[in-house]
Amino acid sequence: MKKIKILGFFLLSPLFILAASEGSDSNFYADLGLNLIGIIGIIVVVAAIALIVNLLNQAIKLRELQIYEEQGFEPYLEAKKKSARSSWWRRVTKAMTAAVPVEREQDILLNHDYDGIRELDNSLPPWWVYGFYLTIGISIFYVGYYHFSSNAKSSAELYEIEMEQAEAAVERYLATQANRVDESNVTLLTDAADLGEGKDIFDTYCAACHLKTGGGAPNSVGPNLTDKYWLHGGSIKDVFKTVKYGVPEKGMISWKDQLRPTEIHKVSSYILSLQGTNPPGAKEPQGELYVPEEDTENQDSVKVIGLINN
Ligand code: HEC
Repeated sequence: MKKIKILGFFLLSPLFILAASEGSDSNFYADLGLNLIGIIGIIVVVAAIALIVNLLNQAIKLRELQIYEEQGFEPYLEAKKKSARSSWWRRVTKAMTAAVPVEREQDILLNHDYDGIRELDNSLPPWWVYGFYLTIGISIFYVGYYHFSSNAKSSAELYEIEMEQAEAAVERYLATQANRVDESNVTLLTDAADLGEGKDIFDTYCAACHLKTGGGAPNSVGPNLTDKYWLHGGSIKDVFKTVKYGVPEKGMISWKDQLRPTEIHKVSSYILSLQGTNPPGAKEPQGELYVPEEDTENQDSVKVIGLINN
């Protein structure tokens, strides 16, 4: 009989898992609200059942008392015995706790005496033992279901899926952002409005060292940006990179925290629009002569053909 009960728990355990894993494709946290409602619902139902059982027991007791008052002690005892036999709840609780009655505790008292505290050799309460077997059953089912079947995904697989989704979301977000421009994909802007914004940025942030003309002066901190000679390259990608990361050790700060990529894009394009403006009193050329590559077929050809002192 006991074995059959345990077997029953084993057979039932998959149902619990199935109930719990329903809709396992979807995100657990997204469903948390729904799950909470479900859990609260179960608690309410269990509480209601407990209340009903309790009320029924009360009613039976009242009925027994009534019998005692109306018919005396013997019929009362008879009714009490009958209800004790018939109350399934009482039988279940008794079977589930299997506690030795206080009168027979002497039989299971151990010899150990810890400063007057004695030990009873009670058997494990069946409710606990069944719960333990249930967890073993669930774990076996769990491993099979989540790790070896294709029906459900393990937490590692769910993690991978969520990471992929998050990456896709980031991609989608970035695709909507013009700010995505960086030194690897930047192209020269020629639109007057863009260059106008570039000029505003230059006058605000850069003119202190490079002067408003961009040409600097013999005693200015920043080099001449209007000539063909560059310390760090004269292509749009080079200039973008210099402005973005700066040359901190030489006094040119990195602007990537103060300017957005689109702003660096505009100011860099503006700088290159100053090529050949030859402002009077500009700083002497520094760096290497940069010759723009016109021929896109011939990207590899050498761009730097001259060298001037740094
Ligand atoms: C505090 C002074 C200062 C400010 C402000 C400044 N720069 Fe510079 N910049 C320099 C110095 C100094 C260098 C030369 C670095 C070197 O010697 O490597 C330089 C170099 C450069 C270069 C590279 C020139 C070359 O020959 O390769 C570019 C492009 C440039 N700056 C753009 C800008 C822009 C755009 C701004 C404004 C957003 C700006 N700078 C603001 C000091 C400054």
